[in-house]
Amino acid sequence: MQSGMKGENVILEVRNLSKFFRMGRHSVLKAVHDVSFSVRKGETLGLVGESGCGKTTCGRTSIGLYEKTSGSTLFNGKEIAQMKGKERKDLTKRVQMVFQDPYTSLDPKMKVHRLIAEGIRIHNIAANRNEEQEIVLDMLQKVGLHPSYAYRNIKEFSGGQRQRIGIARALAVQPEFLLCDEPISALDVSIQAQIMNLLMELQEKMGLTYLFIAHDLAVVKHFCDRIAVMYLGKIVEMGGSEEVYGHPLHPYTKALMSAVPIPDPDLEMGRKKILLSGESSSHMGEDRCRFADRCPYVSNQCRNEGPKMKEVAPGHWVACHQI
Ligand SMILES: Nc1ncnc2c1ncn2[C@@H]1O[C@H](COP(=O)(O)OP(=O)(O)OP(=O)(O)O)[C@@H](O)[C@H]1O
Ligand code: SF4
Ligand SMILES: [Mg+2]
Repeated sequence: MQSGMKGENVILEVRNLSKFFRMGRHSVLKAVHDVSFSVRKGETLGLVGESGCGKTTCGRTSIGLYEKTSGSTLFNGKEIAQMKGKERKDLTKRVQMVFQDPYTSLDPKMKVHRLIAEGIRIHNIAANRNEEQEIVLDMLQKVGLHPSYAYRNIKEFSGGQRQRIGIARALAVQPEFLLCDEPISALDVSIQAQIMNLLMELQEKMGLTYLFIAHDLAVVKHFCDRIAVMYLGKIVEMGGSEEVYGHPLHPYTKALMSAVPIPDPDLEMGRKKILLSGESSSHMGEDRCRFADRCPYVSNQCRNEGPKMKEVAPGHWVACHQI
């Protein structure tokens, strides 16, 4: 899946997007600040970064689930904020989410059938109950679960099975775009690869486009066509997976990469981990590089001026004064 772009058609275009949260009367938290990226039809863009850097906020604001503070987000060329009525409802069908924790995101009191059928009903996808039934059973099969599971209670299932049901629920409405927000990080390691493989297989079969949020870099590397690395509300580096993994340029990306475990023990032993020192700066400050307090290469310029994104190789973007 890493072999180049799967078509150049942009499905989601995010330009200078910001999302601030008001914190009390006089301060705002700039959870996402001036972020731009696009997702092409059929590809997977990975959004990575440490906990609290703004991945979920960025993902949700990008698809109109959170109201943006400024900037623009276009879905198939149309500004999401301007969509109303039928068009808006249609967007909620075309864009679906898979959540991190299948224990909290799926109502434990509900039967599997009802969970999967909910969206089908909201969007009038089935002509009648028979057709609805067919779609539900077909979805169960697509996610690798036995059709008889439809009549069981969600409580009876393991984490991996619940996540399969969560995926079936999202895909039952035939979406084009899936925001996967750390869909495997709550699962047992032994189950994670199965769910990733399922997501890949379904992407291929159903022509889906993914925005995939993760903090585990090893996962993203094998799964994503391109990667955007986030640090405190900003994208600091973005490019093709192989390019970003093979030639990370931003000091933060380098630090992240050096923490990725390498399976070969000899390599791992000889590997130098770049430790990040200092507290991470708050989201509040501006007019400086947000990574300045932790960066080994910091200069005065970094403390006075936030670096802008530059294209250093075709499709490879970095925001750092030293590059
Ligand atoms: N609804 C909200 N109100 C106020 N602050 C919020 C809200 N949602 C998120 N934040 C803050 O915005 C910042 C980014 O949070 P976000 O959940 O987007 O990060 P994340 O990268 O998804 O983290 P994680 O990896 O833990 O899921 C954090 O400082 C968080 O506390
Ligand atoms: S701009 Fe300066 S502080 Fe920021 S990452 Fe680059 S070198 Fe480090
Ligand atoms: Mg999150």
